[in-house]
Amino acid sequence: MAPFLPLWVAALQVLTLSSTVSATRLPIVGPVHFDVITTSVPLTDANRLDPFAKDGRSRSIMASGYYPVSACRRKHQEPYMPTKLASLQDKKFGAYGLPNGTFGSLTLETCDKIAKSNSCFSKPLPLVLFSGALGTSRLLYNSMLQSVAAAGYLVISVDHPYDADFVEFPDGTVITGVDISDEELESALTTRVEDIAFLYQQLGGNSSLTDHFFPGYPHRHRFAHTAIVGHSFGGAAAAAAMLQIPSLRGGMNLDGTMFGPVITAGLDRPFVLLGHDNKTQETDPSWKATWPRLTGWKKEYEVRGSEHYGFSDLPLITSVLGFQKQLPNQVLGSVEGRRMMKLTVTYVTAFLDFLFKSGSETKLEHASKDFPEVVQVA
Ligand SMILES: *[C@@H]1O[C@H](CO)[C@@H](O)[C@H](O)[C@H]1NC(C)=O
Ligand SMILES: *[C@@H]1O[C@H](CO)[C@@H](O)[C@H](O)[C@H]1NC(C)=O
Ligand SMILES: *[C@@H]1O[C@H](CO)[C@@H](O)[C@H](O)[C@H]1NC(C)=O
Repeated sequence: MAPFLPLWVAALQVLTLSSTVSATRLPIVGPVHFDVITTSVPLTDANRLDPFAKDGRSRSIMASGYYPVSACRRKHQEPYMPTKLASLQDKKFGAYGLPNGTFGSLTLETCDKIAKSNSCFSKPLPLVLFSGALGTSRLLYNSMLQSVAAAGYLVISVDHPYDADFVEFPDGTVITGVDISDEELESALTTRVEDIAFLYQQLGGNSSLTDHFFPGYPHRHRFAHTAIVGHSFGGAAAAAAMLQIPSLRGGMNLDGTMFGPVITAGLDRPFVLLGHDNKTQETDPSWKATWPRLTGWKKEYEVRGSEHYGFSDLPLITSVLGFQKQLPNQVLGSVEGRRMMKLTVTYVTAFLDFLFKSGSETKLEHASKDFPEVVQVA
């Protein structure tokens, strides 16, 4: 502080410094090729009652779309998450040392206006569905999924209300999460799979819905193929959804213990297990049981130095804001935050590339050179 400033100016500066957290943009990382439009869409399944609400209402979900565009005419800074959700996340992660105001200060740079000639996608694009961890908002993966879309994939993430900590609908309805006990996990998993199956079925036949998720997508409701990725309980949901929906071409489980019938039934299509440090078949009996029953192409990796929430936006957020050192290593691990995000996006897109584009493992092999902390376990 300059010593010649009047005292009240100095006081004002201190006030301004401590009471505003300036806006910080989360960068797109990984193999970026495109700008991305983001959207939020509510869906109601009139044929299914909400099993959590138990008051006769139909099951409603919220989903986010991430649409890569080749000809963006105008970009803008979009809030990372809506205000109410941001303050809830501040409260939740404040317990780990993140300063109040963190989540409200973050932005993503997205496209809000495309040029008429957004024509580089002459063929339908592949679609990737995403389901997150128990008690966790889909928007805590906003940045990660923007980066996956930026590599050339249509992405849709789903919130499973009552299971997610907080879901806000466009009409203002808010659904806060309930505690789900261990005994209730299998039924919560069933609900997730039903949410995903409903979304997938709607997408397959409803071009006006597709247009809500991907405005201007020229191929109506046609996608090249579909894969599913999930984190934690969402990884279990990804496997369970593949079991139920044969046309899902492949899946990836980021650090999730397996639940439900897939442990005994297995899967016949490509599947990847990507675990944090010391989460492998040797330490997780559900992975051990499922592995021999995965009869398609499969890989298991372990990310040395990472922890469970490393596979979310938290590492990037704490790194960009300079707070990573304040968080204990048990929360996010010791891999630097931007690197951790890049690692996850690189492995996800390398797998998708193998699945949908090249049929070769080249990108996965390159990834293993770039990220020696990732060990192929099986
Ligand atoms: C965080 O900031 C909000 C908005 O400024 C305020 O209402 C809330 O009380 C603060 N919470 C804590 C724990 O300081
Ligand atoms: C198609 O999607 C739109 C937009 O979400 C929705 O309003 C409409 O009811 C859907 N149509 C059918 C047949 O489900
Ligand atoms: C790995 O996990 C197992 C089982 O949870 C545990 O017994 C072991 O101590 C862990 N090893 C390390 C190095 O953390």
